[in-house]
Amino acid sequence: MDKRIFWLSNMTVGYEPLDNEHKSFIEIINDAYVLLAQKNLNAFGDIFLKIDAYMERHFVHEEMIMRQIVFPDVMSHVESHQKFAVHINELKKEFLDAKKDPQKERVAAQTADFIKAWFLGHTLSRDKIYKPYLVRLNKK
Ligand SMILES: [Fe+2]
Ligand SMILES: [Fe+2]
Repeated sequence: MDKRIFWLSNMTVGYEPLDNEHKSFIEIINDAYVLLAQKNLNAFGDIFLKIDAYMERHFVHEEMIMRQIVFPDVMSHVESHQKFAVHINELKKEFLDAKKDPQKERVAAQTADFIKAWFLGHTLSRDKIYKPYLVRLNKK
């Protein structure tokens, strides 16, 4: 079953630089599913590096924008990013510590499903909550 997802125009938060970052996360999700289908567990380690880079770039950027537009729910949104980071770190550690391939494959599958679920639940719903506040962005 193809579990990949594709960008649709209704996924926009209304600000292109953030949309572009969200699109890059879809690529990470799809890369993860492709590597899983290929059982390419060696290359799957790079998925964690890509997620780390995404968190560094996108979370910092998005949180800065939310502060700029005085988004009232910024604290709990930041917490949601932090919770994601904690869980990803756990999965990364489990993946790196796994001695045998079936165990690595199980963690890789969990990771792919987790990042996809997080994209659907966070990026496509929580990130949308700051969308109306973005009208303040150009007024600064
Ligand atoms: Fe986001
Ligand atoms: Fe977010």
